[in-house]
Formats: sequence, structure tokens, C-alpha cells
Amino acid sequence: MKLARFSRIGFILAAAGSAVGLGNIWKFPYITGEYGGGAFVLIYLLTVLFIGFSIMIAEMLIGYMGRSDTVTSFEKLAPKHKELWKFGGFQGLAGLFIMIFYSVVIGWIFHYIVTSLFYLPSSVAEAELRFSTMLHSDFFTQLFYHTLAFIGITYVLHRGIKGGIEKLNMILMPSLMLILLGMFAYAVSLDSFSRSVSFMFSADFSKIDSEAFVAAVGHAFFTLSLGMGAIMTYSASMQKNENLVTNAFWVVFLDTSIAIVAGLMLFTFLYQYGSGPAKGPGLVFISLPAAFYEMGIIGNFFAVLFFLALAFAGLTSAVSLTEPMVQYFIDRFHFSRLKASLAMGLFFYLFGIVALLSNIEGFQETLTWGGKSFFDWVDHVTAAIMLPLGGLVMALFIGFRVEKSRVEAVLKHQLGFAFEAWYFSLRYITPIAMVFVMLNLLGVFN
Ligand code: PFF
Repeated sequence: MKLARFSRIGFILAAAGSAVGLGNIWKFPYITGEYGGGAFVLIYLLTVLFIGFSIMIAEMLIGYMGRSDTVTSFEKLAPKHKELWKFGGFQGLAGLFIMIFYSVVIGWIFHYIVTSLFYLPSSVAEAELRFSTMLHSDFFTQLFYHTLAFIGITYVLHRGIKGGIEKLNMILMPSLMLILLGMFAYAVSLDSFSRSVSFMFSADFSKIDSEAFVAAVGHAFFTLSLGMGAIMTYSASMQKNENLVTNAFWVVFLDTSIAIVAGLMLFTFLYQYGSGPAKGPGLVFISLPAAFYEMGIIGNFFAVLFFLALAFAGLTSAVSLTEPMVQYFIDRFHFSRLKASLAMGLFFYLFGIVALLSNIEGFQETLTWGGKSFFDWVDHVTAAIMLPLGGLVMALFIGFRVEKSRVEAVLKHQLGFAFEAWYFSLRYITPIAMVFVMLNLLGVFN
């Protein structure tokens, strides 16, 4: 199967579009709030630099050399034990599982774009009530917007790499950056900006324990879209003779700077107009709208822009979460693109409805096991097991299975003197970190 190729800038924007997602603008600020700021940010940045960057290069390498869907790429690169290693390619399933809740959250964002046009809650309590009413009792609103997300994402996927994914990212990524920079400029002009800077950058290590450490490592992984074949699948459509290290650098750089800019901006708004660095997943859906309300009429404008940016970030990631399995069905089962996109879309759409129902009163009990709703289970299993497992397999695959000479042939001149350090980190540091994350998230250390 011959793949269409991304242009160079198209590839960087698509991979950055995958990386920059709800993780950057929704999750990063609230977990930073939860773990007390600076010290957590520092650990996250170090992990991005020393582990994230090296796995990013490895994942790109598998896609770039394999030139196929993830399963076929693993087979091609390990002809000796391909029956076993091909399972490495099935981490694409994790993306599809993540989509089960990711699409529902994108639906919430769509809903907030529309309502923020004319309404903002006048207090945190009101905002909280509004969010929990939507979550626990408003099935049809959530279904409506989840359906819109499904249609949009499936449509883009069926248009393919060039006309769908590249085009989407070429439009949405620059728009997202413009919106964020515009709002960031406003934040810089406010008094509370300096408080926000010191919250994010002055390190207080007393708040750091093994849980915070694992959260930082796990988040670095999630935010860079590593471990589930999204970056790998896009890299199969990279032009020949591109520099993987430079491309990986740009993706990591854009992802990290957008998370920092979003975090600084949100905390400034929350200090200036709201209740301080609020904690928990409700940060952007609860504390932030209440802070926008305090801004006056400009608040509605900002709220709409903010949720638009969040939707753009979510959509470009969603497409990359689904594409690995779409490509797999095209390559291995000769599905047409339309059929593959529809089949994968329907998968996350239908299970998404179950996830959505699992928060609705009356269904909650049936769809909750061991204290976690179906929605939370999908989140937990993908983050705690599938993502780190995907990363572990990729690191071991490039570190021990693929002949070093083949790896050197592509990367030696690109990495220069850093090649051996990268190879060492991939063989030993990354696998240990991944196992540690998995054990901790599975509760082994508690
Ligand atoms: N990186 C995305 C985010 O930060 O929201 C989420 C994600 C996308 C994870 C694609 C993994 C992936 F393959």
C-alpha cells in the first residue's frame, strides 16, 4: 500500500497537533495545581527532555523505517521473531480506547463554546452546579455534541493524510497558537502574572513524593502522544531523508511551550479574577468560566476563544488517536479509507455513549465497578497500562531487537556525539521508568 506523504511542515504540524491536546490545556494546568507547582513542573520538564524526547525519536524511527501501519512496521523490522513482535503494533488499540472518553470531552468543549457566547456562571458554586448537571443528568446534550465530534473526526480521517489530516492541522494549529498567544499577551499585562510565574517556576520539593513523580512521568508521556503508535503512524508518511531528530525536537518544543503558555495564562486569570490555582479536572470547566465572568463583557469573548482553542487542540489529537487503527485496517484487511474510518469512528462513538451513560444518574450504578465508572476505567487502563507498556515495548524493540547498524544508519549522523547517550537511555533508563510508572499507577507501592 503506497502512502501519501506529508510535506515537511505538514508533518511537524500534524505530529505537534497530535501532541498538543487536552493534555496540555486541560490536564497539565490542573495537575500542576494539584501537585503544588514549580517542583512538579521541573520534574515534568526533565522527563520530557531525557525520556520523552528519546522515545519520540525511537517511535518516529519505527514508522519511518517501517513505512506501514504499526503492526506491519514491527514485522518488517524484526523479520526473525515477527509473530511475537507484531503485537508491539497493537498499541494502536490504546488510541482507540482513549477516544472513547476523549470524544466525550471534546463534546463538552463544543457545548461550552456555544453556551459561553451568551452565558457565564457568576460564581464557582454556580459553575460547579452547571457542570455537574451536564455531566450527571443531561444525556441528550452530551450525546448531541459527542455525535458532532464523531462526525467531524470521521470525516477528516476519511479524507486521508493529505486532504484530511495535513489540511486540518495546517489550519487548526496556527489558529490555536494565535488564540493562545493573544490571550497570553493579555495575561502578561495583568498584575497577577508574576504570581503565576512564581507558582509555576519556584520549586518547593516538599510537595514532591513518588506519586507526584509518577504523575509527571506519566503526563510527559501522554502529552507527547507516545506509546500508542500515533507518532509512528504519521512518521510512516514522512518524506524520505528527513531529519528525525530535528522533527522530534520541534514537536517536543511546541508541545512543551504550549503547555507552559497555557498554564501561565490560566493561573494568571485564576489569580486575578478567580479563586487561585484551582485543583482538579474541573479547572477549565468550573473555575475558569467563573473567572471569565469576573472579567466583564470581554470575558465572554475570551471564554469562546479559549474553548475554541481547546476544541482545536482536542480535534487534532483525536484524529491522530484513531488513525493508527484506520491505517491498520486499510493495510491488512484492504478496507477502503471510508470504510475503515467509519468502522473505527463507530467503535469510539458507541463505546463513548456507554462512557457518557456511566456518569448519568440512573445508569451510574450499573456501569460502575470497583468504585470506578466505565469512563474512569477507560482512562485508568489506558494511562496506567497501555501507554507505558507501548513505550516500554518500543524502547526495547529499538534498543535490543532491531540491529544497531540499521539504527545507526539513520540516526548516527543526525544525533552526532549524542547517539550513544540516546541509545543507552532507550535501553536502560526508559524501560525502568516505564515499569516504575506502571507499578505505581497499578497501586503496587501504596
Ligand atoms: N497528546 C494528547 C494530549 O496531550 O491531549 C493525547 C494523545 C494523543 C495521547 C495521541 C496519545 C496519542 F497517541
